[in-house]
Amino acid sequence: MYIESPRYTERFGSVRMNHPQAVVALDSGMKSELPPYGAMGVMKVDEETIKHFENKMAIVIPIKDEKLKLFEGVISGVPHDCMIITVSNSQIEKIDRFRMEGDALNQICRYTSREALIIHQKDPAISEALAEAGYEDLLGEDGLVRDGKCAAMMIGMLMAKVAGKEYVGFVDADNYFPGAILEYVRNYAAGFSMAKSDYSMVRILWRYKPKLSAGLYFKKWGRVSEVTNKYMNSLISSKIGFETEVVRTGNAGEHAISMKLAETLPYAAGYAVEPQELISIFENFGGILPTRDRKAMEQGVDIFQIETRNPHLHEEKGDEHLKGMLLSALSTIYHSPLCDQDLKQAILSELTSQSIIKEGEEPPPLHITPAPKKMDIKKFVAAIKEDFNSYSALQ
Ligand code: GDD
Repeated sequence: MYIESPRYTERFGSVRMNHPQAVVALDSGMKSELPPYGAMGVMKVDEETIKHFENKMAIVIPIKDEKLKLFEGVISGVPHDCMIITVSNSQIEKIDRFRMEGDALNQICRYTSREALIIHQKDPAISEALAEAGYEDLLGEDGLVRDGKCAAMMIGMLMAKVAGKEYVGFVDADNYFPGAILEYVRNYAAGFSMAKSDYSMVRILWRYKPKLSAGLYFKKWGRVSEVTNKYMNSLISSKIGFETEVVRTGNAGEHAISMKLAETLPYAAGYAVEPQELISIFENFGGILPTRDRKAMEQGVDIFQIETRNPHLHEEKGDEHLKGMLLSALSTIYHSPLCDQDLKQAILSELTSQSIIKEGEEPPPLHITPAPKKMDIKKFVAAIKEDFNSYSALQ
């Protein structure tokens, strides 16, 4: 593919956050000349490089009661060399949607001879392995894995670790365009190929997110992301003393992380997960608060924001859902030790003016699961090993 070279990088302690880079062309051909690195502000990421990273990557698909047709499309878009890990919280009683998802995955994997795992979030074998490894934070009061997208992502991440993958990427199961999924994963690979550090993250910025309102309108910014990005940028600006607009992917559900970085980050429950990842990176590696991750501090953390060619079309879940998402996102900033009084006040005003909280209320604290490196991964692997093959979609 051809992609804009990283042009401007905002530095915040050891964090190198790159301004968005647009995909210029989805393919760069076998024969086309490789322009000198950065020539004309555009670089070529060749197929071999993309495949190299895809082979080391697991793609985690969290799913909860989505339309099966959409899920099938999403699976079909994940590049062949990536391992697919589906983590489902779909219903089993009455209609066994989990079984239907397994059947769909099995069919595609059989036809195309590829690797995939499918796990139910509430599988007792998973919660037992987590308890064995001392990682009870991911469990609810019933002793099973908590509900929510974040918990699903974390299970997927741990299974990717067990499978020996070096990168883990996430795509939602409710995307209408298989071709967009293919592009997201290729963009993850392109981002990782540009990283100087073993600690890196790639976040997807959609070129357009079309809305249906008297025809198709190609909207650029989502209501939640616009506000999240504004306050994330205010947080960075208040620390570096210069106004910045570098953050454009505060809520990016589609993103990927190198396993080394993924292991060092704490994760916030539900839809706070993506903004909290950025906040945790700023807290851990921004040079303001103390860090114990000396290696990451020395190498630095590379964050890439890649703007797709494909528009993003997914299921819309209504206003209340969006309000909840915005509250979660702004809570991550509000409760960060990096957030000063002025910014806290601005966040409160934003949330009250949007009638998300009442006057005098504060955003509720978030449930944060400590970094996976705090668990005894060897014990987790030992406990899950026996069941590992039973998660194969080809079973
Ligand atoms: N396993 C599992 N468990 N999956 C879940 C759960 C759960 O409890 N809850 C939601 N999911 C799955 C959905 O089925 C979907 O595939 C994905 O997680 C995203 O959930 P949605 O509810 O569809 O989120 P959204 O589309 O409103 O928001 C997405 O985009 C935002 C950025 O605009 C999400 O990816 C957000 O996290 C993201 O911030």
